[in-house]
Amino acid sequence: MAQQQRGSFSSRLGFIAAAAGSAVGLGNIWKFPYETGLNGGAAFLVIYLFCVFIICMPILVAEITVGRHARQNPHGSYKKIGGGNWGVIGTIGIIVGIMILSFYNVVAGWAFGYFLQTSFGDLLSKGDFASYFGKYTANVTDNLIFSLAFMVATGLIVAGGVQKGIERWTKILMPVLLVIVLGLIVYGLTLPNAREGVSFYLVPDFSEVEAGTFFSALSQAFFSLSLGMGAIITYGSYFNKEDNIVSSAALVTTTDSLIAFLSGLLVFPLVFFQAQEPTEGPGLVFVALPGIFEQMGPMIGPLIGGTFFLLLCFAALTSTISLLEVPVAYVTDEFNVKRKPAVIGIASLIFLLGLPSMLAHGAVDWFTNFATYGGETHNFMTVLITIFSDIGLPFGGFMISIFVAYKWGMKRFADEIEHGHPHFRGRIEEKFVTVMLSFISPLVVGTILIITVLQSFFGIQVF
Ligand code: PFF
Repeated sequence: MAQQQRGSFSSRLGFIAAAAGSAVGLGNIWKFPYETGLNGGAAFLVIYLFCVFIICMPILVAEITVGRHARQNPHGSYKKIGGGNWGVIGTIGIIVGIMILSFYNVVAGWAFGYFLQTSFGDLLSKGDFASYFGKYTANVTDNLIFSLAFMVATGLIVAGGVQKGIERWTKILMPVLLVIVLGLIVYGLTLPNAREGVSFYLVPDFSEVEAGTFFSALSQAFFSLSLGMGAIITYGSYFNKEDNIVSSAALVTTTDSLIAFLSGLLVFPLVFFQAQEPTEGPGLVFVALPGIFEQMGPMIGPLIGGTFFLLLCFAALTSTISLLEVPVAYVTDEFNVKRKPAVIGIASLIFLLGLPSMLAHGAVDWFTNFATYGGETHNFMTVLITIFSDIGLPFGGFMISIFVAYKWGMKRFADEIEHGHPHFRGRIEEKFVTVMLSFISPLVVGTILIITVLQSFFGIQVF
């Protein structure tokens, strides 16, 4: 069968914008602050940054390199380089991505609904934002409409292809987001009790740290960098041969951590100002931020608040694009299906897979109290987050490290990086990436995964 023409990014900046767009999303602005809040604040931040820069950045380099070398979707990349059954690892990643997008799209729908309710509705006059959030997420009609709208928007952009769709949009949206977050931080820091929030976030108390803290930080790092499921392999497959993989990976990692760090700096002063609990969980951003927009008065509040939630939607959009692109690339590469029908079929399927997550916040009791493990009852969406994001992504990171170090081989890996980075060999970054991928990353990720699975699901206390 004749292969269809594969897309590519127009420039290194195009790749960086798209990869950073994939990385920066709800993971930074919604998930990172609530995970930090649940895991004790600053100590979590320190462990998180360690995971991002030491454990995950080499894995980011590995994913880009594998993708660029093979010029294939994750399944095709593993198969082409590794032969045998290695393609299965790529396929697992694709399934993980499909399941992540199913719930991610629901949260994106909440953000979209909050944008509309803040700008044009009466959300800011509700006062009790915690109970508003509870009612809002239990409301089936809104959720259905807004997450459908979100999936349609994602599908339209992905159908547009690599340059005209993915690259153009991310380049515009990312800088605007940064500016609005910075503006809100400055405002938030001037409020009473902001200091308490800042010290919760920046002064570490390591006595709070438990084995679970490492797991949460590690899986959050994978989620935030879009690693472990092949999104970056796929984007890497559109990356030009003459561009520098290592510096691009460093830039993407730095941008992503900067936005996560700034989100914390935005959220925690507001949480303490409003005397809320930092341990609120997934509702944290949706509860903390409306309070501040309300403070800004009936004219400015809806304007700034609406802009914020709109940009949150855009950040989510550049991530959903990358999540959808993975199965689309798989189907177009492997089965020679055209891009548009592939997008329509896969986006519809994922939307349907998202329905249980949508109904898991009070609408349907069975999905709301879906499973009990680790001494707590979890809703359907949390179960998906645990299996596919918290466990699935680090598993993918573990596998790609082993794959590169022991199957492909560090020599061929370095040969690929040398295109666009001719002096990679012998440099400190080569040694760092080699040691990390060959030993430290698989060891650390593997150990944390095993301990967590034993503890959470089998109740076996390792420490
Ligand atoms: N990195 C995205 C975020 O932080 O919101 C989420 C994500 C996108 C995870 C793409 C995984 C992925 F492949």
